[in-house]
Amino acid sequence: MKRIVILASGSGSNAENIITYFRKRKQIEVSAVLTNKNTAQVLERCKRLKVPALYFNKAAFSDTTTILDFLVSQKPDLVVLAGFLWKIPKNLVAAFPNKIVNIHPALLPKYGGKGMYGSKVHKAVKENGETETGITIHFVNEHYDEGAIIYQAKTSIIAKDTAEQIAEKVHALEYEHFPVVLEKLLLKNG
Ligand code: GAR
Repeated sequence: MKRIVILASGSGSNAENIITYFRKRKQIEVSAVLTNKNTAQVLERCKRLKVPALYFNKAAFSDTTTILDFLVSQKPDLVVLAGFLWKIPKNLVAAFPNKIVNIHPALLPKYGGKGMYGSKVHKAVKENGETETGITIHFVNEHYDEGAIIYQAKTSIIAKDTAEQIAEKVHALEYEHFPVVLEKLLLKNG
């Protein structure tokens, strides 16, 4: 059985989608979900789905090896960032080379970097009058949104789309593609 550990900061709709996708399959499971926000909706989802969930603070993540040690103990085949908003510390990147995967709600390298997340991305896309946007699934390195791109998918934008409607289109792409891309990554080497 291959194992995924998810890190999420907010609603966790992608986390739930990934958990339920792999519940229907035999070779991969989500073994734990970690969050940096103790009020995040993802915690309620995990409770309902009966997936172990753990909250951690900044010190545990960046100043000590608490989270690194926990992740190593989980022996994950992939660490998946599903709406996780903190930068990944160097020691974590080094411990899991090419094993940390992020999803970004735009077509990187556009609309990436510090401060570009969630609705902020969709508002910027709208303000710039873009005619398309999409998702980028990429490996994580020490810089925000700069690791090697694994997969992108696009959706078109029409002039009357609001930032919220753009977000809905992007979420639909995320739900459709993110678990499938993770599955392919995990199963390609047997
Ligand atoms: C997703 O759209 C994800 O792409 C984005 O946060 C949202 C989380 O939604 N991630 C980033 O912006 C990372 N820079 P969810 O909590 O409902 O899965």
